[in-house]
Amino acid sequence: ADTLGAAAAEKGRYFGTAVAANRLGEADYVATLNREFNSVTAENEMKWDALEPSQNNFNFGNADRIVNHAQQQGMDIRGHTLVWHSQLPGWVNNLGSADQVRSAMRNHINQVMGHYKGQIHSWDVVNEAFEDGNSGARRNSVFQQRLGNGYIEEAFRMAREADPNAKLCYNDYNTDGQNAKSNAVYNLVRQMKQNGAPIDCVGFQSHFNQQSPVPSDYQANLQRFADLGVDVQITELDIQNAPSDSYSRVTQACLAVARCTGITVWGVTDKYSWRSEQNPLLFDGNYNKKPAYNAVLSAL
Ligand code: XIL
Repeated sequence: ADTLGAAAAEKGRYFGTAVAANRLGEADYVATLNREFNSVTAENEMKWDALEPSQNNFNFGNADRIVNHAQQQGMDIRGHTLVWHSQLPGWVNNLGSADQVRSAMRNHINQVMGHYKGQIHSWDVVNEAFEDGNSGARRNSVFQQRLGNGYIEEAFRMAREADPNAKLCYNDYNTDGQNAKSNAVYNLVRQMKQNGAPIDCVGFQSHFNQQSPVPSDYQANLQRFADLGVDVQITELDIQNAPSDSYSRVTQACLAVARCTGITVWGVTDKYSWRSEQNPLLFDGNYNKKPAYNAVLSAL
C-alpha cells in the first residue's frame, strides 16, 4: 500500500492524526489528511473547556466539524478527552464538594458521550492522572482532591454506561518505557481489571524529544500492558526532528504487539504542530513527505 492508512489497515491497524477544526478549510491540509490517515483525534475541540465552558452549556460546533469530516471520509474517531486536569474550565476547579464534582463529571461524560454515542471508536476517559518523576503518585487535580483515588474507576463506570460501544482508554505521557510512572499506571490498570472495572485500552502519548527519546524497552512496555488484557494504542506520537530510525522503531513496536491496535501522530504538518519549532511530524510545512514518512511506510 502507498499510504499510511492503507498500509496500517493491511496489518489490521489504523493510522491516525490529530486534527484542528480551523484547518479544515485549507486544501492541502485536507488533501493530505484524507489521503494518508484513517483515524482522527480532535487536537483540542473535545476537551472540557471547548465543550462545556460554563456549567451545563455545551458547544459541539467545532468538534462536530471534525466528526462530520471523519465520517464523510470513513475514518475512525478517537475521543479526547473526558476527565483531565488541563484545559479544564475554571468553574470545575471551583466546585467545592465531592458531590458537586461527581455530578459535574457525570453530566459531562453523559452529555459528551451521549452526543457522539455509537460514533467514537475509543475515548480517552481519563488523561494524565499521574505525577511525573519517581513517586508514582497521583497528580493533584480537582478530581483527585474532591473524589480521591476512586475517581478514575468512577469515570470509567460512568463512561461505559454512557456509550457501551466505545472502547474506554486511560491515556498518559512519560509512560512509554518502564519507569515509576508507567508502573503506577500498570498497577492502576491491573487493579481495575481485578475489580471488574470497564477499561479496554491504554494510550501511550509518545511525545519524544532529545531529553526523552524512544525508550529501549518501548515494545516490552506495550506488551506488559497488553498482557493485562487491554488493547494498547500510540495516541499522540511526535518526535523532535523526526528521526527516521525512531519513527521506524515505534512503528515496528506496535506491529510486534498483537494488541497494539493503531498509531496516531499529533498533527498533519510540522507548521501546525504544538511543537512546530521541533519539526516532529511526518510532513513538512509544505506537505512534503519527510524521510520519517518513508520510514514509517516501509516499517508498516
Ligand atoms: C495539546 C495541543 O496540541 C495544543 O494545541 C494545546 O495548546 C495544548 O494541548 N497531551 C495531550 C494533548 O493529551 O491533549 C495535548 O495537546 C498535548 C499533551
